[in-house]
Parts: sequence; structure tokens; C-alpha cells
Amino acid sequence: MMLCIAHRGARAERPENTIAAIELAIKQGADAIEIDVREHQGQLIIFHDEIVDRTTSSRGELSNFSFEQLRQLDAGNGQKIPILGEVILSIAQRVPLNIELKDNASAPLVLACIEDFVSKGWEYKDFIVSSFFHPLLQSLKQQQPQLAIGALSAGVMVDYAAFAQNLDAVSINLCSDSINQAIIDDAHQRGLKVFIYTVNDIREFEQFYQMGADGLFTDYPLKLKRWIELKSKQ
Ligand code: G3P
Ligand code: MG
Repeated sequence: MMLCIAHRGARAERPENTIAAIELAIKQGADAIEIDVREHQGQLIIFHDEIVDRTTSSRGELSNFSFEQLRQLDAGNGQKIPILGEVILSIAQRVPLNIELKDNASAPLVLACIEDFVSKGWEYKDFIVSSFFHPLLQSLKQQQPQLAIGALSAGVMVDYAAFAQNLDAVSINLCSDSINQAIIDDAHQRGLKVFIYTVNDIREFEQFYQMGADGLFTDYPLKLKRWIELKSKQ
């Protein structure tokens, strides 16, 4: 059955990319959690934008804040901006974590962080690393072949999912705006999963399910899980 991947956590009900959003998504039965990661002064912060205005109590560019200042901001409902290690500890292997790399500098730090957790009992299958920046994924895969890679794209390529196969990815993570049956079928023929973002509408749940999507990123994990449950009983 199609997987429910919580997009930045249960983003519709809790502040995105926070521990509260992740906890609620797991409670609601999400099959996996997606978060956005950026490098900031040597630390891995969980944050989508390059400016803080939309998701915190403050204003300005990330680069104008020290790491300590960022950690003091209110990321919504009193939540703090988490770092990657905190998220991994809080999930505690209950579901896989999709770490989306938002910048170049995060890549080596994310690999080091994952390897550190693997040395402490986590498994590579607890993680999938995705990015729109494919050279980063290629480099990570070369350094650690056991790491699962998700190739993000927001367009339709001439050779469909070939780029993801060339990266030795496990999945092609596509924008819902650029989905057609040909790219889904092509990905499946190459042995790739197809995950689609960001899907919040029941009509789209049905549409992408009928097209053969393997998973949907959603801001509403409870809504999608309920829909999947009903569908599986039909
Ligand atoms: O990983 C899927 C999705 O999160 C990619 O776009 O902008 O929501 O990070 P964005
Ligand atoms: Mg993302």
C-alpha cells in the first residue's frame, strides 16, 4: 500500500520541522518523516527557508544569526529549531527519516551524523537522504553505498527517471505538478519507487494512488492514513 510520508512533520497541525510536528506525525501513524536540513556554523539545523520570517518569531536572513541566536527563536508554539541529532534521537528508529539536504555544506555533516548513529545501533535503513542537488547525492552514495538516496525533481526530464537510476537512488521524489503516467511507469521499470510531494487533497490521494505512486509527502498525515486505511478495506 501507498506510504504516508509526513512533510516537515504533521505540518498542518504543528509548527513545521519541529519535534512537536514529528511526534504528532508518528502518533498519527505516518510511515516516514521528511525534514529539511541546512548547515549553519558547523551545525545541522532543521529549517526550510533561508530567512526566518515565515516560521519563527524573528525576521531576517539565517546568515545574520549565530547558531545560539537561532536556537533561542520561537519556531512556533514555543518549539525550538531542532538539530539533526535531536530529531534522530527523538524518532528513535520508530519510522525512517527522510533528510532533505537544502545546501552543499550539509552533505558531509549529514553523512557523518548518520554514520555516528549507525555506530551506536541505528541502521542505514533508518535513513533516506534526498536533495534537488544531485551531485551531492552522487558523492554521498560513492562514500557510503549503503546509504539510501532519494532523487528530488520538480520537472519532467527527457529521459524520465534515468537520472535517478544513474544516481543509484531508491526513489524518485517528484513534484505533484510534474507527474505523468509515463514517468511513473518508467521509474518502476527501472526498479525505483515513486514518491510525490506535496499532496494534501483527497482527490489527489486517489489520482496518484491510481497512477501507482508508492508514497505521498503530505502535511496531513492523519488524513492520508485514514484514506489509505479506507482504501485498503475496499
Ligand atoms: O522532499 C519533498 C519536499 O519537501 C521537497 O520540497 O520545498 O517542501 O522541501 P520542499
Ligand atoms: Mg523538504
